This record gives sequence, structure tokens and C-alpha cells, in this order.
Amino acid sequence: MKTLEVELGERSYPIFIGSGLLARGELLTRHMVGTRVAMVTNETVAPLYLAKVRAHLGRHHPVEVILPDGEQHKSLTVLNRIFDALLENRCDRQTTIIALGGGVVGDMAGFAAATYQRGVPFIQVPTTLLAQVDSSVGGKTGVNHALGKNMIGAFHQPRAVIIDTDTLNTLSDRELSAGLAEVIKVGLIRDPVFFAWLEQHLDRLLKRDPDALAEAIERSCRNKAEVVAADEREAGVRATLNLGHTFGHAIETGMGYGAWLHGEAVAAGMAMAADLSHRLGWLKESDLSRIRMLIERAHLPVQAPPALSATRLRELMSVDKKVQAGKLRLVLLKKLGEATITGDVPEPLLDATLAAARAAA
Ligand SMILES: NC(=O)c1ccc[n+]([C@@H]2O[C@H](COP(=O)([O-])OP(=O)(O)OC[C@H]3O[C@@H](n4cnc5c(N)ncnc54)[C@H](O)[C@@H]3O)[C@@H](O)[C@H]2O)c1
Ligand SMILES: [Zn+2]
Repeated sequence: MKTLEVELGERSYPIFIGSGLLARGELLTRHMVGTRVAMVTNETVAPLYLAKVRAHLGRHHPVEVILPDGEQHKSLTVLNRIFDALLENRCDRQTTIIALGGGVVGDMAGFAAATYQRGVPFIQVPTTLLAQVDSSVGGKTGVNHALGKNMIGAFHQPRAVIIDTDTLNTLSDRELSAGLAEVIKVGLIRDPVFFAWLEQHLDRLLKRDPDALAEAIERSCRNKAEVVAADEREAGVRATLNLGHTFGHAIETGMGYGAWLHGEAVAAGMAMAADLSHRLGWLKESDLSRIRMLIERAHLPVQAPPALSATRLRELMSVDKKVQAGKLRLVLLKKLGEATITGDVPEPLLDATLAAARAAA
């Protein structure tokens, strides 16, 4: 087992990464507060892993909340089911919430933990690659609104993140690829050595070689932990983790939640951000090709969906959380391995990127 630490003063917490960690009950119980516990998962993950986690918690009589599966259920309406269960079972402020599942479950359980009785402790047990390398670390929680992704939420750090790499064995190939989008993102924004490592080892990752997966998860989490420690509330550098996300969220919202997976939309969005960075004269042509090639090798899209016009994409991008005083701010690449946030992208260049992204789909 590998252990990393997210350094946030008194809110610091460990990330445990390894095979068979669901069987290690002490990792969970050690980070619980009080005696009550509520487990939040969904209808797909519950039959696979809920019993394994429950086995360690029997004497705590855990409350179990099983949500419907899917990004389209990451809503205030479905969130309310968690509050219903907590209140019906008279859970107090000493109740620890455990999120067992992918990013949707993690974001929703985390938001419930952030707001139930003004905040209760929570533990992340991520079971998708995307959640293991990204969403379970850093304390961003929330739900979607019909008009925009993740528009309602809070910062609330977990007490621990427990990553059992064996859970990836039941994940579909499509979901595995979606997770790789956020892995590639890490290399692009701040770790060119890792990007080169990915170029070399992508095939092992696609074949689910356990050592390669553990390495990719560790390097992704280490990078994310450093960024979060430097800028917990996204006053600056943390925003670079949103590379591709302004484009990506526009795709997700425009296509309807769940049609394109988050990682797929982010992959196309990163290809667009790279394209725009190249048009600005920052990113070399050869690096643009390397980026596109790696994304495609991971079985991810580099084009926007033909169903969304460039105008519609541009319109959807303007509800992004990074918009300040009506001005779009984008994360772009100064070069491969170095991201920057810019508020003054010439509109004609952005239009050219959007048009090109829809051209040869
Ligand atoms: N909070 C953050 O910092 C952050 C960062 C990135 C993404 N996100 C959010 O994360 C969400 C995407 O997360 P995701 O990609 O994990 O999607 P997801 O939670 O929808 O999980 C993907 C699918 O895999 C299933 N699943 C989960 N674990 C499984 C397993 N071990 N075996 C088989 N099936 C399994 C799920 O039921 C679901 O059908 C988005 O809502 C996105 O906004 C949040
Ligand atoms: Zn993301």
C-alpha cells in the first residue's frame, strides 16, 4: 500500500492506494468520528462492493443510501434522498458519511456531508479510475443544475481517501478510458515527465496492468494533492486542473447529462484547449500532435459532438464558473506540461477552434 498526504494544516488527510484495501476495515474505522455511519453508494456499485464495506461496520448499524446510477441523477432532487435517510434514522452531527462509488456518488455524498447539520465528517472510497485519480481528492463537492454542471456545491475535505485498485476490475472499458482523460490532464498541465511516461505505458493501462494502474493513480493523486495544498479554494493555480473543462462542460450540458461521459467531454475539451493554445502561438505543432495522439490512443474523442453547433458551444461556455464580470477565462497550455489561465483570448481564434473541433468529426 502507498500512502500520500494532502497537506492542509488541521484538515490534512491521507490517501491510501493499493490492492485489497476494501478488506482493511481499520483504514475506515480509524477515520470515523463518533459511532454512527452512513454509506452512500448507487445501484450499480452496491451489489459489487457494499457488503465488503459493510462487513467492517456491523456494530455501527450503518445507514445505507442507494442512489440511482447516472450523471443525470446528480441533482438536488436525488440529493434530498440522502438527507431523508439521515433524518429518518436520526443521524446526528457525529455521523460519518462514506462515499462508495464513482465521482457522481462522491460529489453528492460529499455535498450532503458538507451541508447536513452544517457539516459532518466524510470518507471517500472511490471505485472508478476517474474518481481515484481526481474527484475523490481535493474536497470539491456538489450537484448539477439543468442550466449548468456542478453549479451548486461546497468545499468539504474528506477525512481519508481509500483507493482499492481491485475495484477497477469490474469497470467497463469506456469508463476506464474516461478516467484516463483526467490522468492525461495531469501530465499536460504540470508534469511533462509523466506525460512521456503515459505515452510509453498507455497500452499497459488499457490492459489494466495493476502495477501500471497503481503508478498512474499515485502520480495523478500526488500532483492533485500538491495543487490542492497550494490553493485549496481555487484562488489561482487550482483552476489549471480545469484544463479542457470549460469546453467539456459545454458538451456535457449541451448533449444532456450522461450522453457523453465527463472524461470523454474533457478529452475533447483538452484537444480544443491544445488547439487554441497552438493558434495563440504557445504550443508547438509537434506537441499538439502528441497530445491528440495520446488522447486518441486512450480511445477518447478529440472532436466535439456534431450535434452541437459552434455557436451553441460558445453560448454554453459562457455559463462556466470561471466567467468573471462576463469575461470568459480559459485554461490553456503555454507548452506541454505548463498551464496558464487567461482572460483575453481573441474571439476569432476561439471561433476558429470551435469550428475546427466540429469539422472532421
Ligand atoms: N469533485 C471533483 O473534484 C471532481 C473532479 C472530476 C470529476 N468530478 C465529477 O465526477 C463525475 C464523474 O465521475 P465518474 O466518471 O466516476 O462517473 P460515475 O460516478 O457516473 O461512474 C461511472 C459509472 O461506473 C459505475 N461504477 C462505479 N464504480 C464501478 C466499479 N468499480 N465497477 C463497475 N462499475 C462501476 C457507476 O455506477 C457509473 O455507472 C462527474 O459528475 C464530474 O463532474 C468531480
Ligand atoms: Zn474533471
